[in-house]
Parts: sequence; C-alpha cells; structure tokens
Amino acid sequence: MSEANTKNIPPGKLVRVTFLPEGRTVEFEFGALPYEHHGKPMSILDVAQNFGVFLDHACGGVCACTTCHVWAKEGEGLSEAGDDELDRLDMAADQQLNSRLGCQAVITKPGNYVVEIPKWNRNYVSEGRPLALTEQK
Ligand code: FES
Repeated sequence: MSEANTKNIPPGKLVRVTFLPEGRTVEFEFGALPYEHHGKPMSILDVAQNFGVFLDHACGGVCACTTCHVWAKEGEGLSEAGDDELDRLDMAADQQLNSRLGCQAVITKPGNYVVEIPKWNRNYVSEGRPLALTEQK
C-alpha cells in the first residue's frame, strides 16, 4: 500500500492514522484498505500491516496476548472494546485509560487517529527481545 495516492480520496472518506513515537502518518480511503489477515479488518494492527509499520502481534491478532498494546490518543471512530479485549488488557504493562489492543480496535469511520506504541511491554522483557519500533517491509 502506497502512501502517495491520497489525492484521489473522496472528501469525507479520508482516514489518517499517526503512529507514535515514530510520528509516521499514513492515509487511505475508508473502506478501501485490503485486509492483511492480522487482527480484525480495519483494526490498528491491520492498518499497520498494510503500511509496513511495526506493531508486534505474537498471537496473530486473535486477542490472546498483549504485544499489540497501544494507547489511543486521538480518534473518535474507534470501536468500543469488548469484554475479551478488556480482560486481556488487564494483563498489559503500562495499562492506561486509553489502552487498546491494536488487533481489536477497529476504525469505524473516516477521520484522524493517533496511537502510541509503548516503548516496551511485558512480552519484550520476558522474551528478552530487543526494542523494535522500526518499520518492517
Ligand atoms: S496480537 Fe495478540 S492480542 Fe493483539
């Protein structure tokens, strides 16, 4: 998915997602993003996968880990967290009121969204993995 073809997006259909702390912003037409088979369609993880933004997802996006934990900073169109997600988030490091699982938080309408990927989480520490917030292509 290219970030260059946003000129032809009809008015009112633009979705803009900024991933912190990188500050990388991606744009696409609402409803036109191909499903990348990770997490729920149009989830933050799905968007990240489409644009090559690294967001860990150890369980493959089925709400069975917390490696896709993000803080939702902006965006009124994110789906409500379900009980499964809330139960799983209780196990996440650095849980905040705006904590979401990237694989479960779905963009439901056009608009601006900002999410922050925590610099570390419990799985990185327990698995001894290096901090990896760089893009994977
Ligand atoms: S990828 Fe495992 S809960 Fe989201």
